[in-house]
Amino acid sequence: MDVAILQVDQWDSRACRSIHIWTRHDENARVISTTERAESVNRKNQGLSSAIGAGYRVVSQKIRYWLPSAVDRRIRVVAWLSLVTEILIVGTGGAVRLTGSGLGCPTWPTCVAGSLVPTPEMGLHGVIEFGNRLMTGLIGIIAIAAVVLLWRLRTERKDLFTLAVILGVGVLAQALVGGVTVLTGLNPFIVGFHFMASLIMVCIATVLVHRVYLPSGPRALVVPVGFAGLAHATSFVVALTVVMGVVTTASGPHSGDAEAGRTGFNAELLEHLHAWPGYATLVLTIVLLAASVRGKLPVRKLVVTLLVVELVQIVVGLLQANLGLPPVLVGLHMVLACVLAAAMTAVVLNLKAPTTLTDRVSETTHEHARS
Ligand code: HEM
Repeated sequence: MDVAILQVDQWDSRACRSIHIWTRHDENARVISTTERAESVNRKNQGLSSAIGAGYRVVSQKIRYWLPSAVDRRIRVVAWLSLVTEILIVGTGGAVRLTGSGLGCPTWPTCVAGSLVPTPEMGLHGVIEFGNRLMTGLIGIIAIAAVVLLWRLRTERKDLFTLAVILGVGVLAQALVGGVTVLTGLNPFIVGFHFMASLIMVCIATVLVHRVYLPSGPRALVVPVGFAGLAHATSFVVALTVVMGVVTTASGPHSGDAEAGRTGFNAELLEHLHAWPGYATLVLTIVLLAASVRGKLPVRKLVVTLLVVELVQIVVGLLQANLGLPPVLVGLHMVLACVLAAAMTAVVLNLKAPTTLTDRVSETTHEHARS
């Protein structure tokens, strides 16, 4: 019987060594036997690999050590940065529309064919539009930082980790919607959708900020059921006001570019249909404030904040409507809508508290009552 012996060299990456495999075959090329001989040769390679392996272990251990194992100041700062920048980008996006720079960068993802950044020919409009794109990059970096910082806590604080991931995915999605906005020549419905999506991001960032100050676990209502119902109803009317405002804008004069289309709806009528629910939110918030002060509810400070923002928003809304929609006031009205959405979200979130905290509060109350 003819026997062929084949030698195969393999690298065992786990053990950082090379292995010689001897395989004996008969004339039909069937494997008769295989012997492995681990080689202690190749010392140079082994030394290099173990150095890389050790380096990798040291770096990963250092990163692991540096990443928070509990919610700390770094996580809170990033959560706040996320909320602030999500609101600011609405301001820069508004600046793009209100200065007529909507097509300052006429293509996407590059600013102009062949250049990622604006060229001198694009002028100020190009710079303003590109500034908004840069802002998206900043928000993306903050979202990544939040995910990285929460990495070690991803099981323990799944709520925070999920919110950070949603914010990260949201930035990507918004960048794509922004691209569609440009590529459709600033279609008013898409511009409106882009703004609404930004508002939703603001609300999600508010949830993150709220949660980084609280433990996880089940939550229980800390206000009377009627009050909670009224707060939810108010948030619904706020949402209605915002939607009507967006439709009003989409039918108004500030399209973002002389060539951009409008919805063709009656902007004057829409302005009223938008302002009425706006006044309704004010009335509902006054009732909420009265009830929260009367019942000494913990949420009353936030209701005051909500009321103040609403009052300023209504004054700005009335001024802009009566002064022929000056861009500065319209931009301010947009940013205030975000602040208002954040304040409303905060009120709704504070209707409940983690049961671990409420139990502690009621225990203390009972102890006081006993003593
Ligand atoms: C709670 C109160 C209010 C909220 C939350 C609110 C919110 C908004 C929002 C989100 C927009 C769309 C912004 C955009 O897409 O660029 C808007 C537009 C507008 N709002 Fe309000 N608003 C409120 C009250 C008022 C009031 C009382 C008036 C007074 C009439 C008013 C007048 C306007 C006008 C005229 C526009 C269209 C601006 C344009 O054409 O560019 N708003 N509002």
